[in-house]
This record gives sequence, C-alpha cells and structure tokens, in this order.
Amino acid sequence: MSEQTLSNLSREERRFEPPADLAADANVKAEAYARAEEDREAFWAAAAERLDWGQKWDQVLDWSDPPFAKWFVGGTINAAVNCVDRHVDAGRGDKVALHWVGEPEDDTRDITYAELKDLVSKAANALTDLGVKKGDRVAIYMPMIPEVVVAMLACARLGAPHTVVFGGFSADALASRLEDCEAHVVITSDGGYRRGAASALKPAVDEAVEKTGDLVRNVLVVRRTGQDVDWHEGRDVWWHDAVDSASAEHEAELHDSEHPLYVMYTSGTTGKPKGILHTTGGYLTGTSFTHWEVFDLKPDTDVYWCTADVGWVTGHSYMVYGPLANGATQVMYEGTPEKGRWWQIVQDYKVTIFYTAPTAIRTFMKQGREIPDGYDMSSLRLLGSVGEPINPEAYVWYREVIGGDRCPVVDTWWQTETGQIMISPLPGVTAGKPGSAMKALPGVGADVVDDEGNSVPDGSGGYLVLTKPWPAMLRTLWGDDQRFKDTYWSRYPKQGFYFAGDGAKKDEDGDLWMLGRVDDVMNVSGHRLSTTEIESALVSHPKVAEAAVVGAADETTGQAVCAFVILRESAGDGGPDIVEELRKHVQKEIGAIAKPRQIMVVPELPKTRSGKIMRRLLKDVAEHREVGDVTTLADSTVMDLIKDKEGSAA
Ligand code: WT7
Repeated sequence: MSEQTLSNLSREERRFEPPADLAADANVKAEAYARAEEDREAFWAAAAERLDWGQKWDQVLDWSDPPFAKWFVGGTINAAVNCVDRHVDAGRGDKVALHWVGEPEDDTRDITYAELKDLVSKAANALTDLGVKKGDRVAIYMPMIPEVVVAMLACARLGAPHTVVFGGFSADALASRLEDCEAHVVITSDGGYRRGAASALKPAVDEAVEKTGDLVRNVLVVRRTGQDVDWHEGRDVWWHDAVDSASAEHEAELHDSEHPLYVMYTSGTTGKPKGILHTTGGYLTGTSFTHWEVFDLKPDTDVYWCTADVGWVTGHSYMVYGPLANGATQVMYEGTPEKGRWWQIVQDYKVTIFYTAPTAIRTFMKQGREIPDGYDMSSLRLLGSVGEPINPEAYVWYREVIGGDRCPVVDTWWQTETGQIMISPLPGVTAGKPGSAMKALPGVGADVVDDEGNSVPDGSGGYLVLTKPWPAMLRTLWGDDQRFKDTYWSRYPKQGFYFAGDGAKKDEDGDLWMLGRVDDVMNVSGHRLSTTEIESALVSHPKVAEAAVVGAADETTGQAVCAFVILRESAGDGGPDIVEELRKHVQKEIGAIAKPRQIMVVPELPKTRSGKIMRRLLKDVAEHREVGDVTTLADSTVMDLIKDKEGSAA
C-alpha cells in the first residue's frame, strides 16, 4: 500500500460505539483483556472448559520445543461429538443446525442437530466400511451441500484427518494435494449448481485420481445434480448406497487433544502449496471460543450466516467447527452472491449475524443500494468481515446499508495458519474505526515490529508478528517441519515471533491497520494465491519462455492477477488468441480464480544483476503508475520496452 493510502487511512476519524444493549449483555466484556494478560493459560483453559472432554488435560500448553506447540496435553476429545452429539444429549436435538439453501430457488433443507447426528454416524460407519481408519487422510472435493459438513464431521469422528479441496480448483491442483497427503479415499459429488446451471465435479476427480496412479482406492459420490458421470466399478461408490443404509449408531472414540483434525492447503511463496496442519483440542477451543466471543453468539436466539465456501479455512473454522461446537443455528447457501438473493435469505431466515468478505461488499456497492434496500434486514444485529483489508468506504457502506446503521462491524484478521480469529474488535466493547481491525483479542499476542524485531512506536508501520502461542495455531506443515520453521519462525529467531507475512501499521491510539501481504502472496477476492504458483503454471505452457506475475490493485477483488510473459522464439508472436490461450491454461492448471485479469506479452522482464525479477516495477505498470527506481536493474532500458508495449496495447 502506498504512503498516500497510509496517510489517507490515518485520517479516518469516524468512530462507532457499541450499541448499549449489546454492550450490556455481551458474552465477553472489557475485563477479559486484563484477565487474559494476567494468566494467559488459565484464560485458554477456561475457554477449553466450554467443550466436552473425555480425559481432562494435565498441562494447558507445552511450549518446551518451540515452534512445536502442544495444547491441552493429555486431554482426550472428539470434535464431532462436541459439534453434534452433545447438543442432542443436552436436549437440543430438535434445534436446527443448518438452514441449507440450494442455489435453485425453493431447493431448501433444514437439518436439526438430531438429524445431523444420525447423518454423521451413518457416514462414519460407511467410511469405516470403506476401510478408513483413524489417522488415514480423506480428501473432500464438494460443493456447498449439507453432505460436505457431514463428511467432514464423519472424518473428525473417526480421527481421519480431512483435506477439503475447494471445488473451484483444477484436477491438477486436486491431484497434487492427494499426493502430498496420501489420501486413499475421496468424497465428491456428481456436480453442483453455479449460476443456475449444473456444473460437473466428478470428471475432475476422475482425472486427478488417474494422475495419482493407484493411490486412491475409493471415491464416494453424492448425487446432487443428477448429471451423467463416468463410473469406475469397484472404485466408485454412491453416497446414497453406502451412507443411507448404514447404521445411525456409531460409538465415537476419544482422540488425543493433539490428534490431527485436518490439513488445509494454502499458497505460499513457492510454487508448492503448504499443507497447514490443525489438531483437535486446541483448534476446537480456539474456534468455538472466538466464534462465541467475536460474534457475541447467543445460541438460543441467533441465526448466524457465514458466506464462505467450505473449501477455505473460514468455512472450516466459522461455518463448521466453531458454530457447531457452540450449538448455533446457521444458514448455509450453495450459490454465489447474486443481486438480491443474499438479502432475500437474510430476510427469509431472519439472520442476525452475518459474516462475509470485503470483495463481496464492494461488488454490492457497485450494484447500488437499491437492491439491498428492497429487503427487510432488520433482524441483523452484527456484521463481520474477513479475508483482506476492508477499506473505510466499504466498511461504512456495509454498516449503513446492510446493517441499518445499528450493527457493529467486526473486521477480523486471521489466517489459514492461525485457525482462529486473532485481531478484531469486540462488538460489545470496542468503538469501531472503519478500516481498522483494532487489536489482538484477549489471550492473543500481536505486535508490529521493524526488521530487527523491535516494537514500532504508535503512528508507524512494520511487520505483523504474533508474540505468543495460541490454541488453534498450526502445528506444522504436513510432512515438512523444516519448511514450517523456515516460513514462519526464522525471521525473528531471537524473539521467537511468528511472522505473519502481513504489513501493518499502528495508529496514534496503538490500534492496528492491516496493509496486505509483504511477500509474493496475492489476495484476490479474499483468496490467497501465490505469484510463483501462477508463474510456474504459465511457463508450463509450451509457448512461454518466462513469466512474472504481480497482484495489482483492483476496485472489486482487492487485487487482481496481472501477468507479464516472454514467448519462446518458436512461438513467433504467439498467434492472435495467445492471451486467451494462456488465461485458459492457468485456469486448467490451478483453477478459475487464478486466471489472470491481464496478460502482457513483453520482450524482456526487469531483472536485477543477480537475476531477480523486480516485480515492484511490473506492479507499477499494472497499476498504471510512474515506474519507480530502476537503478538496480541490470538493463535499465527494459522498462521502456515494457511501457511501449503497454502503450500500444491500450
Ligand atoms: C491472509 C490470510 C482468514 C481467513 C481467510 C483468508 C489477509 C485476512 C484480513 C483482514 C486484512 C486480512 C491477510 C492474511 N487477511 N483477513 N481482516 N484484514 N487482511 O485466509 O487465505 O489464509 O489468508 O489474508 O493478508 O495474511 P488466508
């Protein structure tokens, strides 16, 4: 973010006090900060007490071998039992867990906690019949249908870590994840609905499974759209055959607190995605507590809706594990944000807590307030934002137009790695500032530091670090302890800080403003993409010799993928459709979200004398700025060539 933007942000002076009734009745009050400060472990132990444990833990935190944390050491727990059975056992079986809304109008389904318990038990039995045992990894590649929640919880129940791969990812991306975590079973569906049409999923699974040799033993397939699918006898099994007929009785085993719960792949700064490992007791403690704290959840009266896809960590922590562990009633929607449909759902289900991403808010802003104004959204009492910095204009629009100027907005900063929300206002305590995520939650340690790791004074910027271990923190990268240490813990070894990869600023009050990534990671519509991964996808095309990718500012998606490519001699000028051809290629290699908004064919790329591509300069071009300092370039005329190209393309 430029200095200009920085000072604009600091001039933001609007403040929004918490509504008095919310403040009076808030789940977490101001005293929590001091209480957590006094005894952090006791604070998190109290949060863990909200869950049902088998064996109680002997030790809250074992940090004797940093950065490898163990939380609630010696404790045993089952995540699925906590998310489902215990609510039924407490007499709340008739409470709706999921108001599921399909994309086709009128295709809805309400699922109570009692029904969910039966479904999860049946699925656990069906997976056992397919040979899935505790510790085995199961891949899930599904649309937003109730079965995806059932599948995840069935895995958790068995102690078989799941790895959910976003349904928008390509067969190649799926294959590399299957291989990395050696999954023998994949759960999928024939397809899902997208913008009114059935879109296939199973063919991508078939292709991925083919690519991985004899790794995958079984594919369990939910029938969602009814479209034709290729069937591999002996390998493929219909969900309705295996699950519907299974017994609804399933004795759940208690797992060690540190037993792996899931692996979620996310983009890093290299081409190879990182398998973020989350374990059971600490993760469930961190997600359920913060969900109750930050959203001020009142399970008996609230209707909660998180619009994230289950293929991302937000869907894991704040659609599945956090809310269900808290016994919430929530909406789950199959489709994408389209015109008034979201607001229709808010109106129909009387949603009280709504959690979405800035990119969606900005899209609605562009479409105009007439659309949301046409619905009754007076049920809403709290709004959340996640995934990328929310600019003050979008924050204020969200608050006024969606929240009727009465709902506090919680801007929640966290990551796939942190598992739980780390930095956020408390809705009953904090006076919100549009654009600021405010400060670390009680029990969380965060700071902004300089290159040496010194805390910067108020009014200055630097790198965001996390200073203390927290319950839902990642435990390692799947199969790669070394990369785990190098990526997050090697930047400030003396202080032992976790390096988040984000730039941040403290304002004059010491409140935090997130400024986006400081590494080669882009944030497009709140989804994390690696520049290197897209670059390697581009150079895997036979016509491409070299590629450089940057994230350029985009009004709607936050950042957009912009690529600069040099073609091979043999490709000539690449032909008239070269740009479209390359965009399609990236879509095939990674997925539609990685498809570059813009591709420029250039004769050279700007490089330093040591051969490092200077993406900073390309970013200047992509954002139509004056190109910055070129003195460290090996050949300073390169930028003129590129700008000439841009001029002629425009
Ligand atoms: C990166 C993590 C957290 C779940 C969704 C994304 C950015 C996330 C915020 C926020 C500013 C944010 C950061 C972070 N980010 N939330 N409220 N304000 N930036 O998870 O894919 O792991 O991405 O998203 O840059 O490092 P993720």
